[in-house]
Amino acid sequence: MSFENLSTHDGDPTAKGSGNAATDKFKGESVKSDTSKERANAIYTDLLAAIAEVAHKHQVTYDEYRVLKNWMIQVGEYGEWPLWLDVFVEHEIEEINYNRNDYTGTKGSIEGPYYVPNSPELPWQAEMPMREQDKAAESLIFKGQVTDVEGQGLNGATIELWHADEEGLYAQFAPGIPEWNLRGTIRTNENGEFEITTLFPAPYQIPADGPTGWFIDSYGGHPWRPAHLHLMVKHPGYREITTQLYFEGGEWVDNDVATAVKPELMLSPQPNAEGVQEVTYNFALDKED
Ligand code: DHB
Ligand code: FE
Repeated sequence: MSFENLSTHDGDPTAKGSGNAATDKFKGESVKSDTSKERANAIYTDLLAAIAEVAHKHQVTYDEYRVLKNWMIQVGEYGEWPLWLDVFVEHEIEEINYNRNDYTGTKGSIEGPYYVPNSPELPWQAEMPMREQDKAAESLIFKGQVTDVEGQGLNGATIELWHADEEGLYAQFAPGIPEWNLRGTIRTNENGEFEITTLFPAPYQIPADGPTGWFIDSYGGHPWRPAHLHLMVKHPGYREITTQLYFEGGEWVDNDVATAVKPELMLSPQPNAEGVQEVTYNFALDKED
């Protein structure tokens, strides 16, 4: 394997654009953790030991070490840390934090770098904000119920839905798309029900022309995620769920670059009486611990 290509690129404005948008968004969030000195010591000791083990195992060369250093600098300059981390690391953190507690509700999945809070509120039956050109894509009616783990409907739960358009692009992270395109906060009715009309998103290619793409090229991987819907489901007193839903049989579902597909998170839309693709998915929320 050669890492040479990691050090020979001179940059591309496309990758830099979406990477920087994700970094700027993240920098605006408040991030803190009450990790003690003892815990930090235990984590860093093990982390450095793991790095040492890999370096010894593979007899990493000085050239490879310098290429890594250069690559890490480039990831920062392109603003791609949110992209790289959410693709290659977040799924492990998500799984750990789901399994740590005895949750029985709907499975979570990674948030990814493109969540934006405070999307426009929509009633329980609604069409997602979309452009005329988005209507060329196939329509999807996505409906269901938000309940507690006993199946009792939760009145006034919110479902924040965001997804890529028919070209695989996210509003606010690609140029020329209206701010809240294909982003909305749906509020369930008194039975916890919702019915959203949207469109089938396209598979998503993570920005492949910057350092994350060079990284993928260096080991002969691909930059694709299967088509997906992102969701955050909330109700006071219940544990919020951040998850994604995928389409059965869709391209890349068996080979997601972000390793975030789970069998519990598959949709199989079928044509309804009017011939429109329709699917039901219910969300069960655990009580807050
Ligand atoms: C990335 C993008 C996504 O849409 C997603 O769901 C996960 C990760 C990314 O570019 O890092
Ligand atoms: Fe996504």
